[in-house]
Amino acid sequence: MWLSLLSGLCLHLVFLCSAEEGLEFPNFDGKDRVMDINERNYKKALKRYDLLCLFYHEPLPANKGLQKRFQMTELVLELTAQVLENKDIGFGMVDSQKDVKVARKLGLEEVGSLYVFKDDRVIEFDGELSADTLVEFLLDVSNFKAFQEASERFQPYIKFFATFDKSVAKHLSLKMNEVNFYEPFMEEPAIVPGRPLSEIDIVEYVTQHRRATLRKLRAENIFETWEDDMDGIHIVAFAEEEDPDGYEFLEILKDVARDNTNNPELSIVWIDPDDFPLLTTYWEKTFKLDLFRPQIGVVNVTDADSVWLDMSNDEDLPTAEELEDWIEDVLSGRVNTEDDDESADEPENPDSLHDQDSNGNF
Ligand SMILES: *[C@@H]1O[C@H](CO)[C@@H](O)[C@H](O)[C@H]1NC(C)=O
Repeated sequence: MWLSLLSGLCLHLVFLCSAEEGLEFPNFDGKDRVMDINERNYKKALKRYDLLCLFYHEPLPANKGLQKRFQMTELVLELTAQVLENKDIGFGMVDSQKDVKVARKLGLEEVGSLYVFKDDRVIEFDGELSADTLVEFLLDVSNFKAFQEASERFQPYIKFFATFDKSVAKHLSLKMNEVNFYEPFMEEPAIVPGRPLSEIDIVEYVTQHRRATLRKLRAENIFETWEDDMDGIHIVAFAEEEDPDGYEFLEILKDVARDNTNNPELSIVWIDPDDFPLLTTYWEKTFKLDLFRPQIGVVNVTDADSVWLDMSNDEDLPTAEELEDWIEDVLSGRVNTEDDDESADEPENPDSLHDQDSNGNF
């Protein structure tokens, strides 16, 4: 479109490029790729490309110096379009005066900004308008596809969110093209390593980390969670969040989980009995428990045999350290559901364990 005006500039660029031949900087080949967007073609352009980049600009200024700057910008877009020719990215210019209607329809507001349209979303680019910055930015945006496709593998159990809003990203300390993984009850997210992230990178990371250190049993994932046992057992904690003791116990559990978030062996299933009124009596009977109090134990998923930490005599709930010691005993097998099975009449381990098989009621 601006080629006649650009010719002087092109020569200049060619000169620059030949001077740096060893680096193989791309030459602008003179082919016009940036579209002049108007009311007739903008819808088609939106539909046609995976990404559409629109530069929203003031009308061509009369001042020669300003004209030159304008042409430089256009050249940057042309060169970017050329470099990314095979990436299904469209480029266009929207004139804030001539194309005022289109601008309004597309929500373009800031003159001098570049707007990137992807599916139904708009990303505003107000960084430095140089070909290398722009190419990098657009390649980053195209990476969103990997994220989208990875998300489909975990439907509906793991929720994926993306933001295209700078202030939201800032609030979350989320960098462009970064994927943060929020494990339940953790204070800080983990940053999925690698850049640029491929779909496989994301899928592998989520697969490896999806079993949370503390996970809440919910009606919508009850079977999924129960089937995801740790070598035949679950560590199960019952705590009513609405109840003061339950709440306090849950806070202790969260502390323990935060301390042990990097232990892949550990996962505690938290059940709030309030969420499962129909199952509560069944659990009380099966596990021989009083679910008005917080409880934590080991359940064998094969036969529902279970062992529970004795908290009945204490005024206080266990501390995080005490709970961690007990969990260590469970993970090492010192506390298990089997030891007592044939010898129910043997004396109990006196310190902390309360066995429901021989001591039915609290
Ligand atoms: C669970 O119970 C079954 C049946 O009693 C037993 O064979 C298995 O070893 C137990 N698993 C664990 C991890 O204790």
